[in-house]
Amino acid sequence: MRRSCGLAGRPCDLGPTTFSSVAFNAIFEFITMSEFPTALSDCFERIADDLVVRHWSVQERVLPDALIDQLGAICHALWHQEDLTPAAVGPAGEELIIPSIRGDYTRWLDDCPPTEAGARFLQIMDDLRAALNRSLFIGLDSFETHYALYPPGAGYRKHLDRFKGSPLRQVSVVVYLNRAWLPGDGGELRLHLEEGAHDVAPRAGTLAVFMSESIVHEVLAANRERASLVGWFRRRPDNPLLR
Ligand code: OGA
Ligand code: MN
Repeated sequence: MRRSCGLAGRPCDLGPTTFSSVAFNAIFEFITMSEFPTALSDCFERIADDLVVRHWSVQERVLPDALIDQLGAICHALWHQEDLTPAAVGPAGEELIIPSIRGDYTRWLDDCPPTEAGARFLQIMDDLRAALNRSLFIGLDSFETHYALYPPGAGYRKHLDRFKGSPLRQVSVVVYLNRAWLPGDGGELRLHLEEGAHDVAPRAGTLAVFMSESIVHEVLAANRERASLVGWFRRRPDNPLLR
């Protein structure tokens, strides 16, 4: 007898048992939930190791697909409701909107209506912050993050995420929210490294992490809408080591 067990919509053969799909899904969820934290903490260790050795790390399929889809849906809803605003360049107090340099539209997560997906994302980022502090002793104290939507043709020219005289941003994080991204779609994050350029496709679930002070990077124009969450782990402003 063939029956759908609800696992990614694939039919599977459960044989003659009366094992219900509800029970099966409950067990499946328990297994994925109990395995998830280990996989995630292993991933955080790899990120910490990469940051020490080369100042950047890219991990694929890190966050659960369902969470990425929820965050992507929120970002697109904000965009279609015109709740995202053109991003500026330059330090606080001297911001300028120059679409030929930076063409994305953003909104701080703190400034969005609270959502379960947003809270889950912040919890995962807080776990990453704690893991980096444990491994690297870098005293990351807080996290700021915004949704970003690049319309087709928009990019962000070569830059560093840390402004001169403003040493608070330590580690940059980008989580991509774009399902079915194809090689010809463009929109790569280009890291400018000593050994040359390294491109990262903005595929759903990919996490790019790099040191804000040292990694020069840019966003290449895409030929479709490109959604992400971009964030920065910061040190405390009164950290005596920064004076
Ligand atoms: C940024 C940035 C990279 C990306 O917002 O500062 O560099 O791939 N984003 O979206
Ligand atoms: Mn940047």
